[in-house]
Amino acid sequence: MNAITTSTLDVRAQIIDAFNFRHATKVFDADRKVDDETFATILEAGRLSPTSFGHEPFRILLVQSPEKRELLRAFSWGANGMMSGTSGQLGTASHFGIILASTAATMTAGSEYLVDHYRHVKHLPEDIIDVFNGAYGKFQRIDHDITTDREITDWSGKQAYIVLANMITAGALLGVDSCPIEGFDMAQTTDTLGAHFGVDTSQWKPAVMFAFGYRAKEPEFPKSRRTMEDVVAWF
Ligand SMILES: Cc1cc2nc3c(=O)[nH]c(=O)nc-3n(C[C@H](O)[C@H](O)[C@H](O)COP(=O)(O)O)c2cc1C
Repeated sequence: MNAITTSTLDVRAQIIDAFNFRHATKVFDADRKVDDETFATILEAGRLSPTSFGHEPFRILLVQSPEKRELLRAFSWGANGMMSGTSGQLGTASHFGIILASTAATMTAGSEYLVDHYRHVKHLPEDIIDVFNGAYGKFQRIDHDITTDREITDWSGKQAYIVLANMITAGALLGVDSCPIEGFDMAQTTDTLGAHFGVDTSQWKPAVMFAFGYRAKEPEFPKSRRTMEDVVAWF
């Protein structure tokens, strides 16, 4: 059994403090940048995130050029400040990005991409690769019935949200503010990624956007949540 030490209590307090500190930041202080080492730590938390079967069906696109950010403004209503009468997260965030989700082109069981991933990223022996192909194939076709391109891309998107959650929490622990963003038009974002960001949209679709930086002001409303009893059941 783990002894409860002073440092355990400190870490518990730090975690809860970080979760209370975090809020969905609408407007950042445009003059404050997250330093490179701090942002590298946030990215590392994303990269090291767990993914189903270890497939890592995501990529992180950072959009730092103001011109490139503006290409997203018209259809990214959750990030363009239309609700706050500001230039929004797009105009003020120190770091802005999009997490892409893999499509069926690569995430279908037995695909060339996955076999290459098992071989060269996970360093699995050939007989284990056969086991993975079989197990993932059954998971896809039978256990979860994920077979269409949309279903497979959405499954990849679920993994992308875990990545983002870890980045956000890492940020909060470091005193960095953030906002998850899914207020955007999926079709127009996909087209823009293809036309202006060199994304092969047959292989990658946008899952979720994010912004990091330092809050311009404190949140307007205190955090409100359902009670623990409402959201947790013990058996
Ligand atoms: C997946 C996801 C997408 C979100 N999309 C947006 C968005 O597009 N724009 C925005 O300002 N906030 C967005 N939010 C923030 C939520 O509205 C916010 O987390 C929620 O109201 C709770 O408030 P809090 O995060 O400040 O505690 C999003 C949150 C999540 C988890």
